[in-house]
Amino acid sequence: MTPVLETRKLCKSFGALTVAQNIDFRLHAGDRHALIGPNGAGKTTFVNMLMGALAPSSGRIYLGGEDVTRVPQAQRVKRGLGARSRSTPSSSSCRCSTTWRSASPSGAAKRPACGGLLRHTRK
Ligand SMILES: Nc1ncnc2c1ncn2[C@@H]1O[C@H](COP(=O)(O)OP(=O)(O)OP(=O)(O)O)[C@@H](O)[C@H]1O
Ligand SMILES: [Mg+2]
Repeated sequence: MTPVLETRKLCKSFGALTVAQNIDFRLHAGDRHALIGPNGAGKTTFVNMLMGALAPSSGRIYLGGEDVTRVPQAQRVKRGLGARSRSTPSSSSCRCSTTWRSASPSGAAKRPACGGLLRHTRK
C-alpha cells in the first residue's frame, strides 16, 4: 500500500550543522506517529520540511505517492497536509504540541487519513 506520507533520505543542514540525516519515514492511512526528542533535536525542522516551509538539503518527500519535494506549501495544504502549533503556558511550564495530518491520495481530504503528534515540554 502506498504511504500517504513518505520521506526518502531527507537531509537538512544549516551550514556545518546537520539537523536531519537520511530520514526514511512512512506514514500509512490510519497510522499515528509521535516524534519526540530533546530541544534542538530537529523536530520542528522535520515538520517544516514536510510542510514546505523549509527546503530540504537533499532527499525527497512524497504525498500520496506524489513527489512534492518542490511543491509550494500552499499546494501541499490544498492536498490536505496541515500542521497546527499549540502553546498553553502555565506558571511553571510551557507545553507545546504540533499536530499534523496528511492528505488522502485523492487530496482535499475532509477527514484526516492519518495523523501524527509532536509534543515536547519546556521547563
Ligand atoms: N533557520 C535556522 N538556521 C540555523 N540553524 C537552525 C535554523 N533552524 C533551526 N536551526 C538549528 O537546528 C537545530 C534543530 O532545531 P529545531 O528547531 O528543529 O529543533 P526542535 O527539536 O524543534 O527543538 P525544540 O524542542 O526546542 O522545539 C537546532 O540546533 C537549531 O538551532
Ligand atoms: Mg521545535
